[in-house]
Amino acid sequence: MNTDVYRLGILISGRGSNMRAILKAAQSGKINAIPAVVISNKPDAPGLKTARSFGVPTSVIQSKNFHGTRDEYEHLIIEELKKHGVGSRNGIICLAGFMRILGPKFIKQYKNKILNIHPALLPAFPGIDAQKQAIKYGVKFSGCTVHFVDSGVDTGPIILQSVVSIDEGDTVKTLSDKILRKEHKLYPQAVELLASRKIRIYNNTVVKNKGVY
Ligand code: GRF
Repeated sequence: MNTDVYRLGILISGRGSNMRAILKAAQSGKINAIPAVVISNKPDAPGLKTARSFGVPTSVIQSKNFHGTRDEYEHLIIEELKKHGVGSRNGIICLAGFMRILGPKFIKQYKNKILNIHPALLPAFPGIDAQKQAIKYGVKFSGCTVHFVDSGVDTGPIILQSVVSIDEGDTVKTLSDKILRKEHKLYPQAVELLASRKIRIYNNTVVKNKGVY
């Protein structure tokens, strides 16, 4: 059995509060993996400073004004991940508010090792403004989902979900805050499930490995 400790590559575009939750959990031993690098596609992402405060190396690979193809851009990210020891075998990639859709080459490189968090109960309300979509639709419950990333938008196998109620008077802001509090608990739990090799994908769904309850 392969018992090597996974190395985490975290991709962000902004605030990085989920990244912070993951780094905190790794620092306190709740995730058995090494945060190896945080990469942002935006130079002014506030999460970069937070990452540095945890002593985690950061890189910026700017996507705006990048004069190449998506593959070429993502190749730069893969190179940066590898430079920090995040390879296709020992790496886990956490998308934490990374506002870009990944292409097939990247997904193949880190097959079944890329996680994302989405602020709705997938498959409901994929894509952007999930909280706004939920309010507009009038659903009484929403929440967040951590899932593996495949080539679709928010379509990969679901690892964990957490539910919040939508009450009268809730706005996009209050709902987003409620969901975010849940996200910060859920994402580290999902990373740990993968890092400790407790889950696998079977028939496009996530199942626990034998002996895991
Ligand atoms: C979160 O709401 C997450 O669900 C979504 O993007 C937001 C990122 O927030 N994918 P943060 O940068 O982690 O604070």
